[in-house]
Order: sequence, then C-alpha cells, then structure tokens
Amino acid sequence: MDEIRFTLNGEAVAYDGSAADRLLDVLRDVYDDRSVKCGCKEGECGACAVLIDGELVNSCMVAMGAVDGSAVVTLEGYRETDRFRALDKAFAEVTAVQCGYCIPGMVLAAEATLAKHPHPTDDQIREGLSGNLCRCTGYNAIAQAVANAAE
Ligand code: FES
Repeated sequence: MDEIRFTLNGEAVAYDGSAADRLLDVLRDVYDDRSVKCGCKEGECGACAVLIDGELVNSCMVAMGAVDGSAVVTLEGYRETDRFRALDKAFAEVTAVQCGYCIPGMVLAAEATLAKHPHPTDDQIREGLSGNLCRCTGYNAIAQAVANAAE
C-alpha cells in the first residue's frame, strides 16, 4: 500500500508502515505520543481513546489502513483548545484525577460528549464516559467535572 496520509493534531503526516499496524502502537511508537495509553488492547478500557474525524474511537481497535485521509486528534492536540482548559480546571476542582492513567481517554470522551450535548444531562455524561474505565476514583467526580465544564 502507498503511504497512509492523515492529519495528527492538525499536522499532515504520512505513515509508510503496514496498513495492518495498530493505530495505538503507531501513535505511541512512531509519533511518540505518550498521551495515548495502552490498557487492554482489546477495545474494553478506553485508555487508548482518540478522536477520528470527531468521533471517539479506541485506537487499539483501528488498523492504520482505516486512518487514511482522516483527522486524528489525541490529547496532545486537544489540550490546545478552550474546552480542554475548562475540563482541566473542572477535573482539578473536584479531584477527579488520581493515578491519571485513564484521564487522556476520559477527557476525549468528555469532548465527544460535550460536542454532541453542549448542556448534557447526567445520563448523557455517564453514557458518554461509559466506554472508559477508571480504577481509582470511581465515576461520580469525573461525571461532576464534565457537568461543571459544560456550564
Ligand atoms: Fe484500547 Fe483498552 S487499550 S480499549
């Protein structure tokens, strides 16, 4: 296959490896984006979540061939946005972070939720975060942080 061309956090890139390579591995090992975490590699934990064309996806379940022509955003790019700053402040204010491993995926799940529901209900927030597992804090503080950031 020819090079796989896509944008990564707004920058045009071309990947010349296999179309079968896993996006998660390519982001971490080729593009050195360590904000993308590896938890299960089975699509179960959400630690590896990124946005592809605005949709939340688990990058461990995406082959590079499917990325061609897409816009990929990780926390590294998302952190330049105003909504990131609101979420960052809200997570800190309610102590929604403990070990932090799930947080990049959680924040991108929050972004996907708020993009769909600018004034989300608690159910919409919890549904939006439902693919992301947290082992430390539980989910109440995280859901509260997302609600606060939406205000
Ligand atoms: Fe991708 Fe867990 S590492 S969902």
